Amino acid sequence: MARPTVSEPRETTTSIRMSAAEKAALEERVKTLGYKTISDYLRALARADIQSATPKAQVKRIPRPLTEYHRTALGSMWNGDSLDWMERREPNSVNLIMTSPPFGLVRKKSYGNEDAHAYCDWFRPFAEGFRKILRDDGSLVIDIGGAWKPGTPTRSLYHFELLIMLCEEYGFHLALEHYWWNPAKLPTPAEWVNVRRVRPKDAVNCVWWLSKTPFPKASNRRVLAPYSESMKSLIKNGYQAKTRPSGHVISEKFGKDNGGSVPPNLLAIANTESTGAYQEYCRDKGLDIHPARFPAALPEYFIRMTTDPGDFVLDPFGGSCVTGAVAEALGRRWACVEMNAAYLEGAMSRFQGTQDCLSAGKPSSYVIHTPCAAAVDEREVPLVADGGAARSQQRDHSSSGDQAGPRVKRVSTKVVKTNTADRAVA
Ligand SMILES: C[S@@+](CC[C@H](N)C(=O)[O-])C[C@H]1O[C@@H](n2cnc3c(N)ncnc32)[C@H](O)[C@@H]1O
Repeated sequence: MARPTVSEPRETTTSIRMSAAEKAALEERVKTLGYKTISDYLRALARADIQSATPKAQVKRIPRPLTEYHRTALGSMWNGDSLDWMERREPNSVNLIMTSPPFGLVRKKSYGNEDAHAYCDWFRPFAEGFRKILRDDGSLVIDIGGAWKPGTPTRSLYHFELLIMLCEEYGFHLALEHYWWNPAKLPTPAEWVNVRRVRPKDAVNCVWWLSKTPFPKASNRRVLAPYSESMKSLIKNGYQAKTRPSGHVISEKFGKDNGGSVPPNLLAIANTESTGAYQEYCRDKGLDIHPARFPAALPEYFIRMTTDPGDFVLDPFGGSCVTGAVAEALGRRWACVEMNAAYLEGAMSRFQGTQDCLSAGKPSSYVIHTPCAAAVDEREVPLVADGGAARSQQRDHSSSGDQAGPRVKRVSTKVVKTNTADRAVA
């Protein structure tokens, strides 16, 4: 029966057939969420769903000033919003977009799922621009760090939501996810890692390598790592073809010298550069040093693997123009667009004199110790039964996670060696 006081009287009904168990679960949910009736709950659910599925009105962007800040033989730094740069750029004209977008947007908020959606909404116009300017055989590479939800030892899903959005809504293909392992990463947040000891340290950034088609141009022969000592001796002494316990047949070709080994998608690169021409230049001139630079070896890897000399590389969140400097050194045309002119002032140092920002000839390796190889007596190390919810229960309040902790009886010498990075870190 319609209520006479309501402007849009609810005159129709719908009935839902369900099992007794489904009905009980629904009633329980309605009660838990504080709705008066099942109808109120279903109406609220439908409203939220319809709202999220309705495209937002297209708001026309007002272009901001975009100025060429500096030009080199092969590229240019632009000061302004990269959305404006992309609007002017002709379609299908960029071979590689190599970038690390800001994730401060997530940090300022609560890191919950709501923020993951907000991040995707903020990213949408960039996704549209990327899709327009990228060539069909081009690549889009996004370096993006994870984020903790404040107050709990759990993580935001925002970077995974971004990946799913780019693939499902904008039609990008995931060529291969990479993980940039920074051996020099500090154990943060200290509260979960060092104080309450309920999480290991997060030391990787996700790097989404995406493409417009399933077949972006690429070659892993361009990014070889030096052979390990055991592989060198195998090449020297020859390899006996055999079947591995896994069933894989390994032929004599395994022992062929291909000039280096195909790297894994775990990129071991320490971000430890605290001295160097860029920092000195900024300090001398009293400029802000960009706080979120990536190491040159990261863009170098993707520029080498997915572009040829003369191709065009864009970094739409240019920062201190690491991508531009590497592209210039590798003979690629390039553009870096950065909103904050102060960062471009510091970036000028990267194009003065002869600077060697490339990895070749500077091979190094890191040692990853196998976890659990340090023997621990479990009877002496109870699990943190409340998952770290209360701080007072913890025994170990040391600030140095690597040294602190349970009694270590033996350190294993079993190691995995990696060969891709630019600086060794103990
Ligand atoms: C994570 S930093 C990139 C750092 C850079 N990879 C480096 O190594 O120096 C992201 C940068 O994007 C810039 N930025 C944010 N929104 C932008 C926009 N719409 N257009 C251009 N730059 C933007 C920020 O000012 C910030 O410097």
